[in-house]
Amino acid sequence: MKTEDLIVFDHVSYTYDDEETEKTVYALKDVSLTVRQGEFVVVLGHNGSGKSTLAKLSNSIFLPSAGKVFVRGMDTSVTENEFPIRKTVGVVFQNPDNQIVASIVEEDVAFGPENLGVEPKEIRRRVDEALKAVDMYDYRMHETHRLSGGQKQRVAIAGMLAMQPECIVFDEPTAMLDPKGRREVMQIIRRLNKEQGMTVVFITHYMEEAVHADRVVIVNDGGIAADGSPVSVFADREMLSGCGLNVPEIADVAYRLRSRGFEVPEDVLTEEALVAAVLRLAGKA
Ligand SMILES: Nc1ncnc2c1ncn2[C@@H]1O[C@H](COP(=O)(O)OP(=O)(O)OP(=O)(O)O)[C@@H](O)[C@H]1O
Ligand SMILES: [Mg+2]
Repeated sequence: MKTEDLIVFDHVSYTYDDEETEKTVYALKDVSLTVRQGEFVVVLGHNGSGKSTLAKLSNSIFLPSAGKVFVRGMDTSVTENEFPIRKTVGVVFQNPDNQIVASIVEEDVAFGPENLGVEPKEIRRRVDEALKAVDMYDYRMHETHRLSGGQKQRVAIAGMLAMQPECIVFDEPTAMLDPKGRREVMQIIRRLNKEQGMTVVFITHYMEEAVHADRVVIVNDGGIAADGSPVSVFADREMLSGCGLNVPEIADVAYRLRSRGFEVPEDVLTEEALVAAVLRLAGKA
C-alpha cells in the first residue's frame, strides 16, 4: 500500500439475502479499486449497479462479505477502526433533508464536530470556515427548513467539512436538485478539490458531471467496467452503451463531427473546448 493510497478496495464483494427467492445476491462482486490522495474520482453507473453499496463500504457503514476495504491502511472490518475511519472518510448522501439535524444553519454545521468532542472555540472557527467554503456564511443564522434544496445540500457539505475529513464520498448529491442547485453544489465540490486539496469520490448518473474528473470509474452489475481518464472512458462508446449509459452530450457532438470528417480533437469534452474546436475549423481562431 502506498502512502498516497487513501481508500483501497481489495477484491471486495457485498452480498445480501433476497427474502423472496432466499438466494444470496451480489450487490458488488470482486471489486478492486484505489482512491489516491487529492484525486477527483467520478463513479458512474445505471440504477442498481452498486454505486451506493460502494459508498457505504468506503467508511464502514457496510462491511464487505468478502475481501477487504482499507482507509489509510485501516481495515474497515476491525471495530476499533470505525471511529478513525469515519473521521477520515465522510459520506454525503442524496437527500439533504435526511442529513440536516438542527433548525439553525450554524447549529447544524456544529453538530458533527461537537460529537467528535472538539472544543467550543475550535468549533466556532471550523463552522465559520466551512460555511464560507460552501458560500453559506451569510445564511449562518437562517432556519434550515426554509433553505432551497441546493442550499440545504451545501449546509450538509459544510457539516461534513467541519469534521475535517481527508476525503468526502458524495452519493448523487445533486440528484434531487434543480439545475441551478446542481450547478452550485458541483462548483463547490470542484473548488474543495482544486483549492483545498480535498480528495473527492463523486457518484452520479449525470454524465456531464464527469467531464472534469481526474478519473472516471464505471460501475455495472456489481463490477467495474472501466477505470481511466474521462477522455479514454468516454471514447469507448460500446462499453458505455453496454452499461446502459450515454456518452456526454459534448463528447457525442465532437464524435459526430469527427465521423463526418471534421478535425475535432479526441479530448473535447467541454463546451468551451468544443466552441474552440469549431472556431478553429471555421478559420476564425
Ligand atoms: N440489503 C439489501 N436488500 C435488498 N437489495 C439490496 C440490498 N442492498 C443492495 N441491494 C440491491 O443491490 C443492488 C445495488 O444497490 P445500490 O444501492 O448499491 O445501487 P445504486 O447503483 O446505488 O443504485 P441507484 O442508482 O438506484 O442509487 C441493487 O439491485 C439493490 O436493489
Ligand atoms: Mg444509489
